[in-house]
Amino acid sequence: MCGIVGYIGDKSPEKFLIDGLKKLEYRGYDSSGIALKNNDKIQIIKSTGRISELEEKINETETIPCTLGIAHTRWATHGEANERNAHPHKVGRVTIVHNGIIENSNEIKNRLVNEGIVFKSETDTEVACAVMNELYSNDPIETIENSIKQLKGSYAFGILLEDSDKLYAVRKDSPLIVGIGKNENYIASDINAISDYTNEYILLEDNEIAEITKDSIKIYKDGQEIEKKIETENKTIETANKGTYEHFMLKEIMEEPIVLQRTLNKYKYSKENIMDLTKYDEIHIVACGSALYAGMIGKELLEEKANIKCFTECASEYRYKKVIYDRKTLVILVSQSGETADTIAAMRKAHEEGIDTLAIVNVKLSTIAREAKYHMFIEAGPEISVATTKAYILQVALLSILALEAAHKKGLEPNYEQYLQELEKLPNKLRKVLNDKDIFQKVGEELKEDKSAFFIGRGIDYAICKEGSLKLKEVSYTHSDAYEAGELKHGTISLIEEGIPVFAIITKDNIKEKTESNVIEVASRKAKIYTITNDEAITNHHFKYTVEKISDYFQPILVVPALQLIGYYTAYSRGLEIDHPRNLAKSVTVE
Ligand code: AGP
Repeated sequence: MCGIVGYIGDKSPEKFLIDGLKKLEYRGYDSSGIALKNNDKIQIIKSTGRISELEEKINETETIPCTLGIAHTRWATHGEANERNAHPHKVGRVTIVHNGIIENSNEIKNRLVNEGIVFKSETDTEVACAVMNELYSNDPIETIENSIKQLKGSYAFGILLEDSDKLYAVRKDSPLIVGIGKNENYIASDINAISDYTNEYILLEDNEIAEITKDSIKIYKDGQEIEKKIETENKTIETANKGTYEHFMLKEIMEEPIVLQRTLNKYKYSKENIMDLTKYDEIHIVACGSALYAGMIGKELLEEKANIKCFTECASEYRYKKVIYDRKTLVILVSQSGETADTIAAMRKAHEEGIDTLAIVNVKLSTIAREAKYHMFIEAGPEISVATTKAYILQVALLSILALEAAHKKGLEPNYEQYLQELEKLPNKLRKVLNDKDIFQKVGEELKEDKSAFFIGRGIDYAICKEGSLKLKEVSYTHSDAYEAGELKHGTISLIEEGIPVFAIITKDNIKEKTESNVIEVASRKAKIYTITNDEAITNHHFKYTVEKISDYFQPILVVPALQLIGYYTAYSRGLEIDHPRNLAKSVTVE
């Protein structure tokens, strides 16, 4: 996902712009650039690779004296990752940076090419810039209003106009905020980018245009100036920097007990925050990636413990499929960022059908948080590493609490009080697992040369496998598959060869023996078995880690962190870019 920052004030913008881009690195990118403006002079400096390369280029360049600039990190969608396609883009009197996808850019580009416009890049952004230049008038708001009417798709634009010494911004479906400083103001894709400068900001809604000077911010909608609320971001104890850790991913894993405690406190004393799911006949849990795998754990518990019919579906499928809403249904959207395009679309599909939605989300003013009918926030604080860890754990925790409360309300949970006690102690139990990180580091080092791995489990253990497999894949680039343990023998077992690592997740009492027999099937083919279980008696393994046996509701919260650490240390043993793995973005705001 691309990142945008912009500055207008009394100082030269370079430092702010580079600081901001560095704070946005976690979103994933492959090139970056800045544009500086002084009256009718625009200077654009771009680079592929890391921000440090752009910074070096800027330091080697004699930059124009100015107090206005925009900057961008690009995660390539239209056109390959090179300097020509990097933002900012300039066409005539307009210079812009963009996050999103202009879906009708080809049609517009063909028209403009026929009219003689020559494009330098393959990007949809340059097309949008050409539209603004084509519709350029002496009224900047009118220029932008008329331009966005021509554009279909998603966008967050930072805009510089030749005849104006102001900073402009507008968005639709891609987040953008206006930060409020002292004798300076900012634009940014998210608050993390400017948190060292301010915690006050205005959240732009779709098609609202910001006209910004160093000491004024005007917001326009449909040509009229409107009033907007000033939001304040409360600082959590986790600052968005690594502290003593080498990587955000490890820092965020080690924060899990703290943020779990904070989230439990939020829901323990104020029960009214916990939505009553028992009034629904059917629940669809819709999400992407790790959030979907957290949803799979929620599904297992809601069905088995609370006897509520539950489906999980990845949002990219759900948004386009025929969904039959023939019973009182709740759609639960799970999302750390609250800006995942597919999950937003799934939510809006449910709304079109008049279906209630509940968002389990981390970023409080995100699109999903603001548009869902109900929301329950996890209190993970800023999660910077592209690979989610602490947010995933809190998503699982909230879904587990929802299942426990629903089971209790339906009179199906005789051990309710006991499990509430267990919940109290969960952060410390989790801390004990994390204190064994050296054990998992050794496993990661063992996996250094392995090209592929399997994760097998049944029921809720299979849902755990899905997340364990994704963690290993996305940060260490090890090909890995999570399989229902009973399914492996229907074909895929042909891939089992001597020494291949197979992670066996075995925690569910009623199916342990079944999974153990599947382990024997692969062990007999000389696979290397890494077992994570809650049962000391389990045998047949090369490696075994036993977590404390607790209720089904919360058992995954002790198991998954072990797999997160194994994924981390495998990547670490290979010296990889753990916090921003290749090709990945922290929040996929395009479909
Ligand atoms: C998980 O480590 C990945 N970063 C990815 O699967 C992520 O969970 C998914 O893109 C959903 O993101 P969201 O929670 O912000 O919606």
